[in-house]
Amino acid sequence: MPLVNTKELFEKAYKGGYAIGAFNCNNMEIIQAITEAAKECNSPVILQVSAGARKYAKPVYIKKMVEAAIKDTDLPIVLHLDHGLDFETCKECIDNGFTSVMIDASSKSFEENIALTRKVVEYAHNHDPYVTVEAELGTLAGIEDDVVVEHGSETYTRPEDVEEFVRRTGCDSLAIAIGTSHGAFKFKPEQCTVDPETGLLVPPPLRFDILEDIAKRLPGFPIVLHGASSVNQDLVKIINDNGGKLKDAIGVPEEQLRQAARSAVCKINIDSDLRLAMTAGIRQHLNKHPEHFDPRQYVGDGRAEVKKLVKHKIIEVLGSNDKL
Ligand code: G3H
Ligand code: 13P
Ligand code: ZN
Repeated sequence: MPLVNTKELFEKAYKGGYAIGAFNCNNMEIIQAITEAAKECNSPVILQVSAGARKYAKPVYIKKMVEAAIKDTDLPIVLHLDHGLDFETCKECIDNGFTSVMIDASSKSFEENIALTRKVVEYAHNHDPYVTVEAELGTLAGIEDDVVVEHGSETYTRPEDVEEFVRRTGCDSLAIAIGTSHGAFKFKPEQCTVDPETGLLVPPPLRFDILEDIAKRLPGFPIVLHGASSVNQDLVKIINDNGGKLKDAIGVPEEQLRQAARSAVCKINIDSDLRLAMTAGIRQHLNKHPEHFDPRQYVGDGRAEVKKLVKHKIIEVLGSNDKL
């Protein structure tokens, strides 16, 4: 099975009322955990790589490790550039075998966003094989590589802009801002209410009204959610019980992501949850076994936690299991 682009996967996901998980990766263990979990769930999967991850692992390692994962699992896998900030980065990835890229010009003006996205789309669609392009309208709070958007400076996607944007750019999917944000600290405690039964903080709900309006304006068109980690409180507790210090880590509740996955949302991005799972596995291992110093022992436990988490996401949140 060669690498695939997102076109057919999104068509099936849209019709089937589920979403494909786009998991960020930057090392062998994370790639193995994601793809083994997807294999065991009979699920398609998107492996996405940020500019920071490419720098960390080196592009050639990423490419070869993803090829190895395909050989190992025989799954339809998309290799996607996450948050490409300029044409050159997108071009380099397209030229080097990525099957999908994101051009993120969401911090630019509407017209500049359209012009840059259009330029990437022309290059990607004329490439053989066809490379799919994700674009973004609206800005999420949080941190992604060099772009930091403070809470309060984020802007929701304006539904009245989306038809013109998609028509003029020709993009294949659109990331929108409806209240998610990047990282493990998505909401300030003062933005949340307290669940009287569990005592846990409940963040403000996502703006499903905006999502529905956009979906109506773009029938059949795949929508993408970034910043969609749920920041599982059990993992946060394991980390903190084993020497970590994560205060007020809050994510998007899983029920809301499940609801999004049943709608026009065809791709859900998850990175922070993988980081938390890996860290929880490693911290717990090292705390339990202070005499261990073989990375295969503790990184192996981190990998097992990531795999468990990805299976949970696929089955309980995305609904992409048994969709091959
Ligand atoms: O959206 C951002 C992703 O979580 C990637 O994060 O740029 O630190 O690799 P990174
Ligand atoms: P999280 O930080 O919520 O995992 O979001 C990841 C993401 O959107 C990558 O593009
Ligand atoms: Zn993102």
